[in-house]
This record gives sequence, C-alpha cells and structure tokens, in this order.
Amino acid sequence: MRKRIGILTGGGDVAPLNAVIQSAFEQGTESGVEVVGIVGGWQGLLDRETVDLGRIGLDPKIGGTVLRSSRVNLANVQDARRKITESLSELQLDGLIVIGGEDTLSNAFHLRDIPQVLISKTIDNDVGINEPGRLVNYFTLGYPTAAEKIASFVSLKEGLRTTAYSHERIIVVESMGMHAGWLAISSAMGHPDFIIIPEFPLEYENLKAKVAKRFGSQRHVIIVVSEGSKWSNGRYISADEDERDDFGHPKFKGAAEALAKRLKADLVPFFNTRNVNSVNPSYLYRSGRPNPLDLDAAETLGRDAVTLMSKKLSEPVFLTLKESGRGFESEEFSLKELRDIEGFHRFVDNRYYDPAELRVTTDGTNYLAKLSADLGSPVYGFSQNHKERR
Ligand code: F6P
Repeated sequence: MRKRIGILTGGGDVAPLNAVIQSAFEQGTESGVEVVGIVGGWQGLLDRETVDLGRIGLDPKIGGTVLRSSRVNLANVQDARRKITESLSELQLDGLIVIGGEDTLSNAFHLRDIPQVLISKTIDNDVGINEPGRLVNYFTLGYPTAAEKIASFVSLKEGLRTTAYSHERIIVVESMGMHAGWLAISSAMGHPDFIIIPEFPLEYENLKAKVAKRFGSQRHVIIVVSEGSKWSNGRYISADEDERDDFGHPKFKGAAEALAKRLKADLVPFFNTRNVNSVNPSYLYRSGRPNPLDLDAAETLGRDAVTLMSKKLSEPVFLTLKESGRGFESEEFSLKELRDIEGFHRFVDNRYYDPAELRVTTDGTNYLAKLSADLGSPVYGFSQNHKERR
C-alpha cells in the first residue's frame, strides 16, 4: 500500500522551510509516497489540521513556512502520546517528518515508538553535537542564511560599520541565541570588534577596557551580544527571570540595549561622545529568502527524509548534515544514543571562541568559512593612530 507521511514545522521560522517542504513533497510524488502537510506544528497534529501540498503553490525561495508553526511542549499536554497516536491513525499517517529546533524535536523523546525523521532547523545552530573530534550536524537549516545576515548587518560593505565610523559611534548589536552563541560568532564574517556569547559570562571590566582602547585608536566600535548572554555573576544581561515560555525559557528584553546603557554611563564622560547606541535586528535574522547553501541543504534533507521514511522505520531518527568532499550530505543519527534532547544540544566552546579577547579563534573562522564568504575589510577611514582629534 502507498505510504502516507505527515510533515510539520515547529518553533521559530527559518528561511529554507518552504524549500524542505517542497523537496519532500517532490520526492514523495516521484517515489510513490504521499506527503501530507500538517498545519501549525504539533498543535496541528493534535487538532488534525492538514493541507494538500499539491494545491498550495509552494515557492522554495520564499522564507517562512506555509505550514505555519507553533511551540507546543508535549510534556505539558495531558495524554499527549495517546492523542498523537489517535491523530496519526485518524489521518492514516505511517509516520512523520518533523522539522524543528531543540524544543519541537524534544517532543520526539516522548514518542519513541512512532516512526519519525527529525530535521533540525534553527538560526541558533545549537541542535547537534559539538565535542572534540565529533561535530555531528555541521549546521542546522536556516543558520547559513541568518549567519550571512548578521555578518552583513555589522559589516563595512553592507552594514553598521559605515554609520559607526562616520559618527564615531559605539554600536552594540543584539544577536538572537538564548543559550548558544553560534549566530553571534558568525557575525565575525562581517568583522565586529567584539563578540559576547551566552556560553562565557561577560567580564565587564575586560570589555570596558577593550572598548575604551579600541575607541581611542579607531574612533568607533562595534560589539555583538547574544540575547542570552550573562554577566559574570550569572545573571542575564537582560531577561525577565520570572516570565517564562512553555519550555521554561526566560523572556529576553534587550541585552544590547542594557549593555549600551551601562557602557554609555561608564564611557561617555571619558570620551565626551553621546553616540553609544544599540540595534536589535531581531526577527530580521529569521526573515527573507534562503541563501544558496540553505537551499541546497533543504533539498538534500527534504528528499532524503522521504527516502528514509519509505524504508522500514520503527523509531525516530535524526537526519543531520555532515561535511563531505562534495560539500554537505545527509547522515542518519539514531536517537537511541540519547536520553533526551539535552544530549543533542550543542554550544560554542573555546576551540571556536576566545572569551578573553571576545573574538572568534582561528578554528572558529575556519568553521565559518565553510558556511559563507567573508564580507570584506574590517574598518575604514582614519588610520588607527590618527592624532589630531582633540
Ligand atoms: O529558537 C530560535 C529563536 O530564534 C531564538 O534565538 C529566539 O530567542 C527565539 O527563537 C524567539 O522566538 P519567538 O519570539 O518566535 O518565540
């Protein structure tokens, strides 16, 4: 009998979602597997809301997800396993392709006997394994596009560096990234002066001294800070610790703004400049069309997910992206190795980032080089030692 599988997207949108959905649908059509769209992530499956993918004119180059998204933690839904099993049987689905970040995919751990292919997507790039000599999942879908964006937002060629040097500004730019600094470190391709990430609590006096020195020589400074970064006392630079979402994550309220305020108070009297600003591109990181690498990855993952589902699959399997001689290709990774999603949640470590210098290491630069092009020269204008300022 013809296999019928559901496909759903959950969590924050990323640029290549429609591209994966379309590739999965095409692969299904070519190989005799019916791929059915589930509208609204896990909530859509609970509500049994589906759509015929052949009728909605999917455009892989448009970002976001036509299947919509939700953030549902099945651990908080009563009788979730039974309800999901009933939905699958009612909709006559043999299994699922689940496209999501750490939260959406964590639901698979409550449904270990349901055939699922899990595809990680998140601009946070934090789903996978990063251990010495073991990088499982080179990148998550959506990360290359967002990485290119943040780098361009700060760069001299396309971004904030031009207004920074023109007005002698110190600009603090906020990156998304609740727990992991992958997006923030990718800004290194656009050459900000300093980067602050959640994995390494900020030694503020070190930052302040570095900013003062750099401003003294360069007359402008660009700092990138992840939203989930912390002070050295362990408190978030800016988050409301009392307000939490369905997965228990705190609500962030602008780390760049908080840091800019503190720097302004400490440095402005010294430099006599009013120009300490903050910029938060926020959802712009997730918006817009996918870049070529994300499009290729989406095509590979969408097609291979359906091929994998058409085999006999009795459990959830992660479909990851590994580097190969020809670029990137998909690789299966069994869930059996892992107790929960925490085992598949990865962070930036000091192989990639130097917390004392607040910048990316050579290994970090090499990691990023495989994802995107460098965005031109770091600075412009007066040379480092321009003497006639005051
Ligand atoms: O999980 C990806 C992410 O982009 C985080 O970095 C960010 O904190 C979060 O989504 C915010 O998403 P939303 O406002 O849609 O809940």
